[in-house]
Amino acid sequence: MSKKIAVIVGSIRKNSYSLQLAQNLIGLLPEGYQAEFVQIDQLPLYNQDYDSAGSPDQYTAFRDQIRSADAVLFVTPEHNRSFPAALKNALDIGSRPYGQSVWNGKPALVVSQSPGNLSGALASNHLRQVLSFLNMPLVGQPEAYIAGFNKLLGEDGKITNQDTLQFLQSVINTFVQLIQRYS
Ligand SMILES: Cc1cc2nc3c(=O)[nH]c(=O)nc-3n(C[C@H](O)[C@H](O)[C@H](O)COP(=O)(O)O)c2cc1C
Repeated sequence: MSKKIAVIVGSIRKNSYSLQLAQNLIGLLPEGYQAEFVQIDQLPLYNQDYDSAGSPDQYTAFRDQIRSADAVLFVTPEHNRSFPAALKNALDIGSRPYGQSVWNGKPALVVSQSPGNLSGALASNHLRQVLSFLNMPLVGQPEAYIAGFNKLLGEDGKITNQDTLQFLQSVINTFVQLIQRYS
């Protein structure tokens, strides 16, 4: 049976490099793995009152999407030395109501990028700290931080650098092994 990978992009801007990186990454998935992008920009800010009073419809749809996935791929930029607020909001929404987290036990891969030299490494480390708490088995190695990402793209949005592609393929292969171990 095919596996479903929920893809969450930490940036909500239209021409996001993280989105382009995610699109390149899903092209490296083997046969039998289907990627589904999960939007996070429509989610109202998490408020614990919703847990008792009833959640917005967007929360329900989002939680259902994650619940139905076998694993989650996070691709994120760095905002002020952490991952973006929209992504934290999505993580909080999925983690509640208490005891009903949709993240629990789902294998995850974090890939970060930046146009600069920092490669989103600090965002990735913050994100992986939160995902560990949420009980998501993570790809530990190889760590996937991509510096100068915009310079690696061709005009069609595809990564042209063969070394980068080879590295990202090894990251995806490790993710697939992790998913198989937990399925
Ligand atoms: C609010 C904000 C904070 C940022 N902070 C960082 C940072 O801490 N480290 C970094 O490398 N880049 C930082 N950047 C630059 C981002 O890496 C850059 O905007 C990148 O293109 C964002 O990824 P995206 O194209 O997927 O939106 C920041 C950008 C914004 C808008």
